[in-house]
Amino acid sequence: MINVDISNVWGQISLPGLLALEHEIFDAHMALTEGSGAGSDYLGWLDLPAREPTPEIWRIKEAAGRIRADSDVCVVVGIGGSYLGPRAAIELLQGPGRNIGRGKGNPQIWFAGNSLSTRQWNELCRLLEGKDFSVIVISKSGTTTEPAIAFRSLRWMLERRYGTDGANSRIYAITDPIRGALRQMADEHGWASFSIPPAVGGRFSVLTAVGLLPMAVAGIDIIAMLAGAMEGKEAYDLRSFENPVWLYAALRNLMLRNGKSIEVLCGWEPGFRMFGLWWQQLFGESEGKDGRGLFPATAEFTADLHSLGQMIQQGQRNLFETMIRFDPPELKQTIMSDIQNLDGLNYLAGQTLDFVDEQAFQGTVAAHVDGGVPVITMDCGELTDRKVGELFYFMELACGISAYTLGVNPFNQPGVEMYKRNMFALLGKPGYEQQ
Ligand code: PA5
Repeated sequence: MINVDISNVWGQISLPGLLALEHEIFDAHMALTEGSGAGSDYLGWLDLPAREPTPEIWRIKEAAGRIRADSDVCVVVGIGGSYLGPRAAIELLQGPGRNIGRGKGNPQIWFAGNSLSTRQWNELCRLLEGKDFSVIVISKSGTTTEPAIAFRSLRWMLERRYGTDGANSRIYAITDPIRGALRQMADEHGWASFSIPPAVGGRFSVLTAVGLLPMAVAGIDIIAMLAGAMEGKEAYDLRSFENPVWLYAALRNLMLRNGKSIEVLCGWEPGFRMFGLWWQQLFGESEGKDGRGLFPATAEFTADLHSLGQMIQQGQRNLFETMIRFDPPELKQTIMSDIQNLDGLNYLAGQTLDFVDEQAFQGTVAAHVDGGVPVITMDCGELTDRKVGELFYFMELACGISAYTLGVNPFNQPGVEMYKRNMFALLGKPGYEQQ
């Protein structure tokens, strides 16, 4: 189980206040599991964890094996919920620099279609020169502008390089099982394809093919990841404050009610940044509606202690932090002694980098708590494929419970559509003339 330490929140909230929320959290959890809350058509994510691999998982592994064998680079096209999950898992487990030195057998993975940046596109074209590549295109609706534009160009590149049949064998589509342009294209061209279950919304889709196929291409053990999620599903079904998911969901709501409007999710690994962005979408799109919700922000420590640290320590007192920690790795880095000691670091000689990191963590928590910032700490244990599966499920469940406690429908995103409608009207898309 992930351990949620709440010993550093008491300056701002009280135990009776927390206990008073117990029945609300209970009701929210019941509404989720019974399907009686708002948006209950989108609860399919509750059933994605699996102890044993399904035929779909074997198909994903088989497709990933093909991509690993015939591609130096795998380009994953998608945006939002069709992008952040796989990138979060891959960077958390393999580091942001995972592509360095990779090729056929263990391909590089690059993401496209998550912006409208020509510079990003030009960079992708440069890195694909002279390399064998495949494309995984992910879009539930099949019509989102950013990935659709990137995919059209990538298809053209594939066809020029490999011919029509060769291109078709290098495209893997992940989309709605029946509807949408991408589904129609996949069926017409005979691309390998996987379905996003209609009952799973984009930001809750990381444990479908959306997340699993790119992860499997990266060499992540997706069977272990789903089993970890299953362990989480069983462990976090507990209906009391012994359930760390309950504690986290309750504290978020209590913080908001006590005037905190921002939650900063702080990782202590550079590889955690993308997970933070996945979390940001999960909670931001699920809770930010009807004039409500905490603003989800992210930070990476210790790097951001040298930038955001000042604001957190002494800025407006409207935030709290949730710190995510993993056990340090087995391979240690020891600080060496230096005979001249001009940098004055000999007092650390013989200590490990993890020792210094731990003191930085302790010192940061103490400073921020002194500065009036409540700190929730989540100890996740060993950083493994299994644990990341558990963490995904933990956050999704916490999000559902927290949003129902807040009184909003976690599973729609009416605000996201507004910019799309305006952009379509400006671009002259047929059907949007009246906007
Ligand atoms: O969570 C969501 O619903 C959104 O972020 C979508 O995932 C995003 O807009 C991409 O949509 P689609 O998968 O339809 O291309």
